[in-house]
Amino acid sequence: MTKMTTLADLASARQAKIAAAGTELPAASYPMNELAQALHPASQHLVIEEVIDHGPAARSFVLAPDPSRGTSQLAPFQPGQYLSVRLRIGASYLTRPYAIRSTPKEAAAGHYVLTVKLVENGVATPYMWDHWQVGTPVTTSAPGGELFYEPLRDARQLVAIAGGSGITPFYSTAAAILDGSLDAELTILYGSRKADQVLLGEELATIAAKTPKVKLVNVLSEEERPGFAHGLIDAALIKRFAPAGDYSVFISGPTAMDRFVTKELAQLDLRPGRVRHELTGNTARPDHFAGYPLANADQTFSLTVHTRGQVVTIPARASESLLITLERGGIVAPAMCRSGVCSVCRSQLLDGTVFIPKELDHRRAADADFGYVNPCVTYPTSDLTLAVPVPDYALEFE
Ligand SMILES: Cc1cc2nc3c(=O)[nH]c(=O)nc-3n(C[C@H](O)[C@H](O)[C@H](O)COP(=O)(O)OP(=O)(O)OC[C@H]3O[C@@H](n4cnc5c(N)ncnc54)[C@H](O)[C@@H]3O)c2cc1C
Ligand code: FES
Repeated sequence: MTKMTTLADLASARQAKIAAAGTELPAASYPMNELAQALHPASQHLVIEEVIDHGPAARSFVLAPDPSRGTSQLAPFQPGQYLSVRLRIGASYLTRPYAIRSTPKEAAAGHYVLTVKLVENGVATPYMWDHWQVGTPVTTSAPGGELFYEPLRDARQLVAIAGGSGITPFYSTAAAILDGSLDAELTILYGSRKADQVLLGEELATIAAKTPKVKLVNVLSEEERPGFAHGLIDAALIKRFAPAGDYSVFISGPTAMDRFVTKELAQLDLRPGRVRHELTGNTARPDHFAGYPLANADQTFSLTVHTRGQVVTIPARASESLLITLERGGIVAPAMCRSGVCSVCRSQLLDGTVFIPKELDHRRAADADFGYVNPCVTYPTSDLTLAVPVPDYALEFE
């Protein structure tokens, strides 16, 4: 008959094992944790290695890891993803997303390239023009964003529709197709007002000349020129240049362009799930969205913020998003996409009323029910109180 194991037996066996164990402490770090940290670091500490001018209003910044501040390799990414750059400008802690214009292969070799357009009356870009030079330290997030080719989700033929600086994610996609690391076909429809506003035009044309898998169509709305299409990127133009068969459409540009193209795409009878969007820029004009209470437009309300165990009250312009108000008020607020998509800025509205443009409201139903908002696309319509979480990178602004 087998002997039954009693609780007392188990306890003494356990004591014997403990007594026989060595005195060495278990490993403080595990390979799986190290891999997760390399793939998704909370922060990347980089340094500017080169600055390239593209005329007076655009620059590329070549960034390398800065081991002296703890980053020895760059996080991998999918062509089309972006980094959120963190800047301390005066009393403001700002984030701004920039698509990685270079390829994943170049990141593995130690470089990211960001190509930035100078924005008149902007905040971050004039600061970069004045302060970013070779040797300047830069801190960013890990790569993020959804504007990349995923074979399980997207058709292998991609139509990329870009406006202004929205071309950068597609540059990376085109370059990755050329270097053989991305198996897709890309038709770029790039809209600009005039030929001298086309960003990276020659570089893109060089890529397109080297591979039949990348086609480039520059579309000028205010100028007619040989070699360029003329007009707006409407349904007829998309139909004219889109490939035969099934294709996915990726749109990257300002809100006005995105809205126009989205309406045009509705005429094309695309399969569901075939359109992806990324807005490039702050949604600075809430009054351009349907339903905005226009009587509010010039008002300034009072925003009480609960953050880091403190309560702070700052003025909140009706015309600015709550995220911009927080940044202007010197509060470190979490953010990545700045366009209502990622929910990194998610905060709890404790009191007051707000306007959220319908087309930018991507909250889960439960968030909406329990009073959570994404401050990057939320505008005050009364005095209000907001609980803002502290990001884990709160001390990592340059
Ligand atoms: C996913 C994504 C990818 C992008 N990729 C690129 C890219 O590759 N290249 C590129 O050039 N751009 C890109 N952008 C746009 C970029 O993130 C910035 O919006 C752009 O560079 C303009 O920044 P800016 O601060 O100069 O101007 P704005 O963001 O227009 O700054 C002006 C705004 O700042 C507010 N403001 C004024 N004073 C303060 C203050 N003290 N504190 C805080 N806010 C204040 C004002 O209200 C105003 O709305 C991308 C955007 C997104 C969303
Ligand atoms: S920063 Fe992405 S939703 Fe606000």
